[in-house]
Amino acid sequence: MMKIKTTGRGAVSDGQDTNTSQARTRVLSPTATTLIIYFSRSGNTEKQVRFAQTQLTTDVYELGVQHPYPASYTASVARATAEREAQQWPALSDDSPDLSQYQLILLAHPIWAMTLANPMRAFLVLAGDQLAGKQIASFSTNAGYGSGETQRVLQLLTPSDTEVLPNYSVQDTQANGDRKAFSRWLRQVRSH
Ligand SMILES: Cc1cc2nc3c(=O)[nH]c(=O)nc-3n(C[C@H](O)[C@H](O)[C@H](O)COP(=O)(O)O)c2cc1C
Repeated sequence: MMKIKTTGRGAVSDGQDTNTSQARTRVLSPTATTLIIYFSRSGNTEKQVRFAQTQLTTDVYELGVQHPYPASYTASVARATAEREAQQWPALSDDSPDLSQYQLILLAHPIWAMTLANPMRAFLVLAGDQLAGKQIASFSTNAGYGSGETQRVLQLLTPSDTEVLPNYSVQDTQANGDRKAFSRWLRQVRSH
């Protein structure tokens, strides 16, 4: 029987860019001042988001793309590479949420090609000036190569008065064992 690989390089997905539900996650309240925006192709980042929800009072908004990435890892890498080379980020399936009520926006995503996954780049382009004056921080999962260029790309893609806090990244296979460090990081960005 074929072994299904759920983490690390080669992780398959359900072909819907989420492993827990076909419906995009929406937790939107009138009073929250923190928002997690996330994209997860094969479910690792989504697990981190679920954990963060147990640690913080936060709204949550899952990004989808109009054409989901394929279940096959190699086919997804091929598509992501073509998008990156053309600097054509994927069309998102929904508009950006209204960000005006939030002070802190956490961007949760996998690392692709040593930076933010393409759908998160698409979101940053779409959000544009809506991020002015806000604090943002990235948390990501990776397959062992760290967060790469994430911090620099965030600085480049956000308005000059957006405060980009230090990011957190964990290797997908280590995420469960690393909960204490992740909690600590969440507390730090929350109290910044
Ligand atoms: C298109 C693509 C590119 C990737 N590039 C990298 C990379 O440059 N460095 C790395 O450590 N992991 C890379 N990975 C592995 C993912 O970052 C890792 O498996 C992550 O946990 C997947 O998160 P997800 O399940 O939330 O989609 C890549 C995965 C894909 C699909």
